[in-house]
Amino acid sequence: MKINELLEIIKWRNSCRSYDASKEISDEAINNCIIAANNAPSACNKQPWRFVIVKDPQIRKGLYEHGLLPGLPMKWIQDAPVIAVLCAKSDAIVHWFTPIFSKIPYYLVDSGIAGEHFVLAAAAQGIGTCWIGWINGKGIRRVLGIPRGIQPIAMFTMGYPLEKRNPAPKLDQAEIAFYDKWGKQK
Ligand SMILES: Cc1cc2nc3c(=O)[nH]c(=O)nc-3n(C[C@H](O)[C@H](O)[C@H](O)COP(=O)(O)O)c2cc1C
Repeated sequence: MKINELLEIIKWRNSCRSYDASKEISDEAINNCIIAANNAPSACNKQPWRFVIVKDPQIRKGLYEHGLLPGLPMKWIQDAPVIAVLCAKSDAIVHWFTPIFSKIPYYLVDSGIAGEHFVLAAAAQGIGTCWIGWINGKGIRRVLGIPRGIQPIAMFTMGYPLEKRNPAPKLDQAEIAFYDKWGKQK
């Protein structure tokens, strides 16, 4: 296992909001992302994640027009040659019954992990992505024909980046990691 390569991919990924609309993404590259996502861990191995990969320009337009909440202009989405829609299929026992005790919505945790596997696999292939969480689930459902019991969780724009992006600032490690006790630094 090559940690430096992995960290390099993780650091290369940052939210890409400017895409080369003329450069397509191969089915093979997308398939690699799906393999990565599908190998994610999940509570009781329920694998609630489902992906709809949208290349069709009319359907992408539909997602842009009906799949977003108002108030956050995201015109750049229209240049992304692919939009991947992450959905979660919930299971009555693991996803609704056990959280009564644990207070943890496992299907969202699981889907988030799978989603990040997906975008890191994209990054490893030089493909830029951006998580879109400001979504209108109802609109997405209508555009994609998603049945009941399946919840759209996020969309990812995908495409080759047009420009070098500045990394977003991240918290100091001392603020996010403690050792042996909460608040204790090394
Ligand atoms: C769950 C989630 C929802 C997000 N929703 C949006 C969004 O609706 N629009 C957007 O432009 N960026 C969105 N982002 C991207 C964040 O703004 C971005 O990850 C954050 O600013 C850190 O920057 P980085 O991804 O470059 O590290 C979302 C990210 C996550 C994880």
